[in-house]
This record gives sequence, C-alpha cells and structure tokens, in this order.
Amino acid sequence: HDHAAFADSLLLWFSQHQRPLPWRRDYTPYQVWISEIMLQQTQMERGVEYFLRWMDRLPDIAAVADADEETVLKLWEGLGYYSRVRNLHRAARIIVREHAGEFPGRLEHIRALPGIGDYTAAAIASIAFRQDVACVDANVERVLARVCDIDTPVKQKENMAFVRATAQALLPPGKAREFNQAMMELGALVCSKKARCEDCPVRRWCEAHHLGIVHERPVPAAR
Ligand code: ADE
Repeated sequence: HDHAAFADSLLLWFSQHQRPLPWRRDYTPYQVWISEIMLQQTQMERGVEYFLRWMDRLPDIAAVADADEETVLKLWEGLGYYSRVRNLHRAARIIVREHAGEFPGRLEHIRALPGIGDYTAAAIASIAFRQDVACVDANVERVLARVCDIDTPVKQKENMAFVRATAQALLPPGKAREFNQAMMELGALVCSKKARCEDCPVRRWCEAHHLGIVHERPVPAAR
C-alpha cells in the first residue's frame, strides 16, 4: 500500500544526498565486492582511501588472483581482520578457475565464495547485478527497528527474520541497487545513533518518530 510511497521518498532523497563514493561510478562487480569487504568493520573515509590504493595496484580480478599473498596483505595493512583479505585472495583464484575470471552473477554462486556471507552476497547481487534482493546490515536494522517500532532486541532471531522480510517487502522491483544503498546511506547519514529526524525523508512512515521514542530504538541486546 504505502510501500511505494516510502521507497519513492527514500530514493529521491538518495539521488540528492548520496555520497560520491568511488565504487558508485561504474558499479562493476569487482569494485562492489572489494568495497563491501573493506567496509566491514571499517569507517567509510578509511575504506575509500584503501579502496583507491587497492584499485590502483590491483585493477581487476585477474590481478588479485596473480598477486602473491604478501602483496594483498600489504594493501590491507592497517585495516585489520586479515582473514578478510586472505578469503578475498582465495575467492579471486576460485573466480579465475571456476568462473572463467568473471564475477558470478547468481546469488548462490556469490554466497559460495570464501568470505562472503548472507549480507555481502545480497549486497553484490543487488548493487552490482540489480537482483531484487534486500540486504540488511546494522544500518538497515536500525532504520527498520525505528520505522516499525520494534520493541525487543533487534538481534533476536524472530526480529532478524522480520527485518529481512520488511526490507524485502519495501524494495521496489528493479530498484534494488538504489534502494539497498539508500537504506544504508539513510542509516549512516540521518537515522544514525543520534537520529536527525528533521532531515529524514521517511519520517511520515516512522512509528518510533510518531511516538517520540526514536532514541529508544533499536532496543539493545540483553546482557
Ligand atoms: N555500507 C556498506 N556498503 C555500502 C554501500 N554500498 N552504501 C552505503 N553504505 C554501505
């Protein structure tokens, strides 16, 4: 019903406010993949700096597959979580061997690569290949915990399933690239920990905003 209006407002906002990130120029699967792995546990600004240096040195999948471990580790140095770069290196060699050097476009093939979980597979499938699959990261969880006024910890299994289903239901067919990034961007820039509701394009549809309890959502995990 109101799903289309929610998406329209969000997508208009995204078209006007998105950050000009280097992997948003061409949306090649290789660049989307590297950016998604780098952005896990890494601040955006730092991610951009490492991404540009990486692409300068390793411009395509074949270059990664041909590089030795020392080279890729060196390019990752300072980002931490070095299993990410080891998996990435293994994945590049698998892509060369099993997919003729072309990044696979099917969700199950993407998900099967080392270092790629549910979130990253959905991000690549939607952002690079425009498949209609919602992706849910911590930003999207926070946005939907507020929009839907989820009053129990969002990490609970039932809530994760609900958030995932809601994100998928809100996604306008054919616009997954824009919609998924818009949800993440909204969480990063507006619906952040300290929410700036006055700037929010979807506050009309936000239950927590109407109730005046945005700062109480998401409910933190019990400890
Ligand atoms: N975080 C991870 N991937 C992102 C993307 N494509 N846009 C915005 N934030 C992100």
